[in-house]
Amino acid sequence: MNVDVIILAAGQGSRMKSSLPKVMHGLGGKPMVQHVIDSAAGLGESVRRHVVIGHGGDAVRAALADSDIRFAEQAEQLGTGHAVAQAMPAVAEDSIALVLYGDVPLIKSKTLDSLCRIAARDHLGLLTVELTDPSGYGRIVRNDVGDVVAIVEHKDANESQLKIQEVNTGILALPSRLLREWLPQLSADNAQGEYYLTDVIAMAADNGVRIEAIQPMCEQEVQGVNTRAQLAMLERWYQRQQAEHLMAAGVTLADPDRFDLRGELTVGCDCYFDINLVIEGQVRIAEGVNIGPNCVIKDSIIGPGTRIEANSLIEGAQVEASASIGPFARIRPGTELAEGAKIGNFVETKKAKIGPGSKVNHLSYIGDAQIGSNTNIGAGTITCNYDGVNKSLTEIGDDAFIGSNTALVAPVKVGNGATVGAGSTITKNVDDQELAVARGKQTNIGGWKRPIKRS
Ligand code: UD1
Ligand code: CA
Repeated sequence: MNVDVIILAAGQGSRMKSSLPKVMHGLGGKPMVQHVIDSAAGLGESVRRHVVIGHGGDAVRAALADSDIRFAEQAEQLGTGHAVAQAMPAVAEDSIALVLYGDVPLIKSKTLDSLCRIAARDHLGLLTVELTDPSGYGRIVRNDVGDVVAIVEHKDANESQLKIQEVNTGILALPSRLLREWLPQLSADNAQGEYYLTDVIAMAADNGVRIEAIQPMCEQEVQGVNTRAQLAMLERWYQRQQAEHLMAAGVTLADPDRFDLRGELTVGCDCYFDINLVIEGQVRIAEGVNIGPNCVIKDSIIGPGTRIEANSLIEGAQVEASASIGPFARIRPGTELAEGAKIGNFVETKKAKIGPGSKVNHLSYIGDAQIGSNTNIGAGTITCNYDGVNKSLTEIGDDAFIGSNTALVAPVKVGNGATVGAGSTITKNVDDQELAVARGKQTNIGGWKRPIKRS
């Protein structure tokens, strides 16, 4: 199918009380309009995406710079029909036009596909929903035999029309040839003085174009966001859905209502996630991973059987099988933990390769470092990787032992089986099997008299 998707995003969203354009507010860690763009992409290869911008348009344009998007500017918000018209010059002659709202983020590709299939038969596909409280929405007017013949906006509706509970979601698809013909015929002669896109429904009915109304899988799919409270409600619903997917994939969640996914996560089975886990970006977690409460994991890969204890932050890391992290660990980008490696409490790592079975158990900073296998890094060890200008590397071999409170002044190497005495400041390389001690010698003075207070 050859589809032009037109996403309306020019409105101000004044009820958000924000300097950020409404459609840029995030849901599941992604701007609302990006959700819509991604759903549209789900329609397939030959889909062109147009975003109609107005209020805060530069911010929207800048944020979406990476995607393959055409922008149309609507300088003045003269209505949904006028908004769509701004995108038409870039719309193909013989395509299907699909109109979406940038502030209706959770629309599903499957629903859009159904609408496009209707339009592909030269009909008009309209997405409607039944609401117990339809106030504010455009009402779907049907004739005696149940065919849709018009949409009447709330402000233009008469008393009997106001009772109609089937409302317009705003989402529709039709041959762009028809849209191109009808848009110039819209008038602003209505209660709001706007060019209503919804008036094309009556035009379709008058021209014998069949209107097929379909319904979404659930109400949230077509829920628009006008306030932060509505955004929060939709966020919670979205997160609950993510939690359900995870549980179906074999993950135990201590509390499905205290799990947040702000990106994409793949999981193996038999994982256990305690409360308040936040996942950001692209994360892969293998089977049998156990994660304690209050952890944040971003853009990382976690190997099978690894344990992550409470209050740990992990970003840009690659962790192999059966590693152990935390509690209170901060794993920064470029960290690679080999199988069985252990990072303990109050340890920060950055650009650090920690070999199999090696341990950094307490209160350390390991940055720009390579550590071999089965090495023990004592409490309070610091890699002094930065001289104020350049970053330098610390290399430590296999089976080494670094005593507590050691400063390793990079660039420096410590060999296989080498030992460093506690409290050392290591500025020169240490060879294999050597012991290095670099600290003031201890002096003991017998019978030492402490000073006494002068009267
Ligand atoms: C519109 C529909 C109404 C439907 C409702 C669903 C019309 C005339 N009415 O009503 O039938 O029930 O949506 O929420 O279409 N926008 C622009 N430029 C404009 C006007 C709007 O880009 O000039 C964008 C807004 O940013 C928003 C969307 O279009 O994303 C809908 O606008 P909004 O003002 O919320 O539509 P309603 O009048 O509430
Ligand atoms: Ca609205």
